[in-house]
Amino acid sequence: MDVRGPSYKRVDYSLRRAKAIQRKMVVEGLSLLRRFAPFSQYRFIGFGGLRFADLALVHQQLGITKLISIEHEADGLQQKRLQFNKPLRSIELRFGKSNDLLPKVPWTGRTIVWLDYDDGMSADVLTDVATFGTLAQSGSALLISLPLRAGDDTKPEKLLKAFRSAIGSSPLPAGLISSDLDGWGWAQACRRVIAGALQDALADRGLALASSERLRCHQVYNIEYVDSRRMLTVGFVIVSQEESGRFLVDEWTDLPWFRSKEEALRIDPPILTPHELRHLAQQLPRADGGSLSSPGISDEELAMFEQLYRHYPLFIEAIA
Ligand SMILES: C[S@@+](CC[C@H](N)C(=O)[O-])C[C@H]1O[C@@H](n2cnc3c(N)ncnc32)[C@H](O)[C@@H]1O
Repeated sequence: MDVRGPSYKRVDYSLRRAKAIQRKMVVEGLSLLRRFAPFSQYRFIGFGGLRFADLALVHQQLGITKLISIEHEADGLQQKRLQFNKPLRSIELRFGKSNDLLPKVPWTGRTIVWLDYDDGMSADVLTDVATFGTLAQSGSALLISLPLRAGDDTKPEKLLKAFRSAIGSSPLPAGLISSDLDGWGWAQACRRVIAGALQDALADRGLALASSERLRCHQVYNIEYVDSRRMLTVGFVIVSQEESGRFLVDEWTDLPWFRSKEEALRIDPPILTPHELRHLAQQLPRADGGSLSSPGISDEELAMFEQLYRHYPLFIEAIA
């Protein structure tokens, strides 16, 4: 943990543009899980921090009421502060490390787990992934958000060593070399290791299951974004053989941010004035052959805005 304390004391997550966009995309995708069960039967487990933004959003947008926030803050007074800030009665705060608590949460019913870590890749992350793969039911989703700390300041020739030490005893992705880990390459190597850990846990579990109950994982999110640091969010839905018809690939591929492979969606939203925002939104969705324009905004910024505008946050001064 950072010497200045947990991230909820240092960062106002509610003002993070890229994160806000990502959150809306995530919820848009999660809404497709309705095919498996009504959301009244789902449980959401996350790291809510002090603002509980993810938990409040899945309650507001999806109607999930069974909500658990895991928090490793050990100080009693700070725990009271976290309890005080819970925006909803039904949020249950559990104090401790995710490695210890995830195996003990109720896994009855379908579950959405979104672990938004403060620290980069570690063996602990992969343990949490394996716990999900071992215990979650068909129709459940796992999202992992990680900062890419080590990739940013390590000398290129030392990257492979740094990555190996980050993932502990998990196998390195086949063919990975140091230069693959430069910049955003680190994120994609993390994605491969996370996907591998999930697939391995599902395969081990499958040995004891009838073929109709065996679970397959579908990657649905692969998002790279920058707020104050580079971040990766990767997410999967697990589906049993017998429920495979409930995961409708066409519904997912219809969502422009859907990414099932190594190529990530990059969220790098341009900073626009309210006037520019309105002006650009009025030109969208763009007519065939038409082009977007606003004085002084580059073509790259316009293209990025067009990709993100449906989810672009409008920050309005207010006391929430
Ligand atoms: C990045 S913040 C969560 C921000 C929140 N998702 C949001 O968008 O508003 C992570 C929170 O989880 C806690 N945390 C991080 N890693 C954890 C772990 N492995 N186990 C338990 N709590 C953890 C941190 O103390 C912090 O409060």
